[in-house]
Amino acid sequence: MQLRLAAIASLSCALLSACTEGSIAEPDNVREGQRVYAKECAACHGASGEGAGPASLGLDVIPPDLTGLKQRNDGYFPREFVRRFVMGRLEKDDPTSPMPDFSSVGLRHVYPDGGADGEVLETDFANLLDYLEAIQE
Ligand code: HEC
Repeated sequence: MQLRLAAIASLSCALLSACTEGSIAEPDNVREGQRVYAKECAACHGASGEGAGPASLGLDVIPPDLTGLKQRNDGYFPREFVRRFVMGRLEKDDPTSPMPDFSSVGLRHVYPDGGADGEVLETDFANLLDYLEAIQE
């Protein structure tokens, strides 16, 4: 009996997660991306991307609300812009801006043992972009 109950429970979980994918049950890549975000970006851009993280208080330039990227770009998430901006390949509005160039500093909080030489693994970066896309308003 107990076995059958367990089977039913796991079946309904499977069905449930199939229905709610993208809403309640977040895909793994988004969850992984959130982990990267929390370590590398939240201090400035806020715990959930809305800006005003603790480290932003001492900055002259205010880190923008990253949940509004899509809205500010005519309803399309500007994935390629974000990729290039974060990797320091785009000119900044303010050249003295404290936003790090992650292609040179690397995801140094994600890989504390040796990530200082600009190490950014493609999967981690793709997950980060997926997370940012998922938090758009
Ligand atoms: C030390 C603080 C700091 C950290 C850490 C930081 N940022 Fe920023 N970020 C800023 C500031 C300040 C700006 C605005 C100034 C500018 O445009 O250069 C900015 C701008 C941006 C923009 C441009 C937004 C727009 O609308 O133009 C994006 C995208 C961005 N950050 C993403 C990230 C991501 C993703 C991470 C983590 C991998 C991150 N930032 C980490 C401070 C930070």
